[in-house]
Amino acid sequence: MKKGIELLATGSALPAKVVTNEDLRRLVDTSDEWIVKRTGIRERRHCVGENQFSLAAGAAQAALERSGVDPARVAACIVTTICADNISPSCACLLQRALGLPEQTVCFDLNGACAGFVYGLQVISGLLTEDRPYGILVSSETLSRLSDFTDRSTCVLFGDGAGAAVVGLCDSPYGLCGDFGSRSNREVLYIPSATASEPSYIHMEGQAVFKFAVDIIPRCIDRVLQQAGLTMDGVDLVVMHQANARIIDHVAKHLKLPPEKCFKNIARYGNMSSACIPIALDDLYREGRLSAGMRLLPVGFGGGLTWGGALLEVGDIK
Ligand code: COA
Repeated sequence: MKKGIELLATGSALPAKVVTNEDLRRLVDTSDEWIVKRTGIRERRHCVGENQFSLAAGAAQAALERSGVDPARVAACIVTTICADNISPSCACLLQRALGLPEQTVCFDLNGACAGFVYGLQVISGLLTEDRPYGILVSSETLSRLSDFTDRSTCVLFGDGAGAAVVGLCDSPYGLCGDFGSRSNREVLYIPSATASEPSYIHMEGQAVFKFAVDIIPRCIDRVLQQAGLTMDGVDLVVMHQANARIIDHVAKHLKLPPEKCFKNIARYGNMSSACIPIALDDLYREGRLSAGMRLLPVGFGGGLTWGGALLEVGDIK
């Protein structure tokens, strides 16, 4: 039997402050109608007292506790983020102490932009061993800190949040199936770092990113299915990065996916970069929609440009 990767528990943490479209209308020339129609977003969360680490810790602790996994058997802790509070130490190293993980745990942050969680799944699977077959993958983002609240074309899109998954190596008839890639491009989406000479704000050509997304997602999904020897009938849920409800609907229509197979929670949170997919997984868990034996297909895409899709089997989820 081949080795695959399975989901054992999820967790999430969101800032308390809800920011509605109406709240943003007071800052920029926009409307609830425009935002809902063009993006599907109704509200998002913004950090006030929370930060990127506190959200990561909240999500990771919830997932680890729920999993019942002994921290001594965790081989790796990876945090995917483009918003780390510190360049060093990494958020993952800080989490090591908060979660009581042993010194032998590999801890590092990974920047795969909005494809980060799916990149992380692939990377963490290579670090798990028979003795220590568990990994903690956390995605924590505070995009409100990188938003220019004078730019209506970007500031309405993004929100803050963290999601976490405890994953494990499993026997699988499919093995590790994933399709990943990147297409070097600074023109359509870039965020200068805090050390750059210009302000650290999100710059985006929305239509170009939209076209990239609707082109790459179906091709990525096809390639994952081919590797697994599955058709879409063999997949229970496609969990796409939540950047725009129109992107998700466009892909669903193209692939003839019924709405119940295509999860969407963008209305409540907006785009939280790599945190969208694990928060979606935790929402699914809390809605009682995940059970052992299910096959999920998370797909991310974003800055870089990057994309990634993978088969994620649901284990004995707690
Ligand atoms: N409120 C009101 N009007 C707005 C607005 C807002 N918040 N933002 C932009 N507009 C205006 C534009 O100024 C433009 O006006 P004009 O026609 O007078 O020039 C008009 O709306 C259309 O703008 P456009 O950029 O063509 O809109 P769009 O339909 O492409 O929607 C996005 C914009 C950003 C929502 C959409 O392109 C998108 O979601 N792209 C993908 C982004 C993405 O996936 N990012 C993820 C990276 S991880």
